[in-house]
Amino acid sequence: MADTMRGVFLPGDSTAAVREYPIPTPGPGELVIRTGASGICGSDLSYIYHGYKTHKGLSGAPAYKGVIAGHEPSGRVVAAGEGVSRFGVGDDVLVYHIHGCGQCRNCRAGYYISCTDQSQRKAYGWQRDGGHADYVLVSEATCIPLFAPLNYVDGALIACGFGTAYEGLRRANVHGGEDLLVVGLGPVGLAAAMIGRMLGARRVIGVERSKERIEFVRATGLVDDLVVADESAVDTIFALTDGKGCEVSVDASGSAPGRSTAVSATAEWGRMALLGEGGTFETEVSDTLLHKQLTITASWVTSLQGMEDLARMLAAEGLHPEIVVSHRLPLEDADEAYRIAAGGATGKVVLVPSGWDAA
Ligand SMILES: NC(=O)c1ccc[n+]([C@@H]2O[C@H](COP(=O)([O-])OP(=O)(O)OC[C@H]3O[C@@H](n4cnc5c(N)ncnc54)[C@H](O)[C@@H]3O)[C@@H](O)[C@H]2O)c1
Ligand SMILES: [Zn+2]
Ligand SMILES: [Zn+2]
Repeated sequence: MADTMRGVFLPGDSTAAVREYPIPTPGPGELVIRTGASGICGSDLSYIYHGYKTHKGLSGAPAYKGVIAGHEPSGRVVAAGEGVSRFGVGDDVLVYHIHGCGQCRNCRAGYYISCTDQSQRKAYGWQRDGGHADYVLVSEATCIPLFAPLNYVDGALIACGFGTAYEGLRRANVHGGEDLLVVGLGPVGLAAAMIGRMLGARRVIGVERSKERIEFVRATGLVDDLVVADESAVDTIFALTDGKGCEVSVDASGSAPGRSTAVSATAEWGRMALLGEGGTFETEVSDTLLHKQLTITASWVTSLQGMEDLARMLAAEGLHPEIVVSHRLPLEDADEAYRIAAGGATGKVVLVPSGWDAA
């Protein structure tokens, strides 16, 4: 093994720089992973790529600490530190994207994402080196088995977007025979479509604004009915469901109009899951919520166990999240990969370090 590796640093000026870094060595409780795939996420683009210095963490300082980017890694363990017990050299894993203190209430429930100890909460690609590199140093506690036949790209997708969609659908309790509405068909919306069907949804209706994305989604076969996001979208959804609407709806658009579409097209006694970040949610209350007896859930990523359960289920069903990927590029082309992702790629963009046999 060489002494140095490539890693991607985001200067915050809409470029991605490939630099040389020392290959890490694992300390107690740590593993080094040879990266098999590392996803580029919408949050990397919105909060780091174009200018991270304005995006403050809870401490008031920039949340991105200039580390190697990428919070969606998956790969193979190549070195193990003292005291690791569950994973060893040769194991394939995906990585839950944050390490928490392990002691606070949220960490103990497996929600490292909501760790309340800011001095210890460290996200890969934000406050500690992430997956856009040949190797990544990880805490064993954040590793999740990459069950066969999942591949590394599948693992990278589960590590963020698919985990998020699973948590939302679990809270909204989608189950057999129900109709599922997904508003916003980016990687997270497509994850909701795939997982919703796996959990038993009878029919999946998708709403999307971008014509290019609609064509991409059509080719994946993940959605039964594709509805263009316009003034008639809600009427179309009611027409498709014999006038009742969808028992479960998901907003993965992160937009106020998308949320309005989702809530309006939710059936009586239905459940709506808010997943999209940012902006506002405005609604009339009586007829739209109360009289329809609606439940609205909101969730932030998922728990360690939720992510592991999801990986196990996808593997058992032979489902491959990889289907939502439109572009895969080698690490050395990180700048181009980020430009493609920032330019509104039709699907997910993934960095796949070349130079090793990941079979
Ligand atoms: N809750 C969480 O833990 C969590 C985790 C990851 C991502 N997210 C958020 O989930 C959202 C989706 O993530 P993504 O990576 O798929 O983003 P994305 O930007 O690729 O996808 C959003 C899609 O919504 C579409 N859209 C926008 N307005 C619409 C409207 N009015 N009607 C229908 N479609 C509309 C866009 O055209 C786009 O295709 C983002 O807001 C992201 O920040 C949340
Ligand atoms: Zn992400
Ligand atoms: Zn904690």
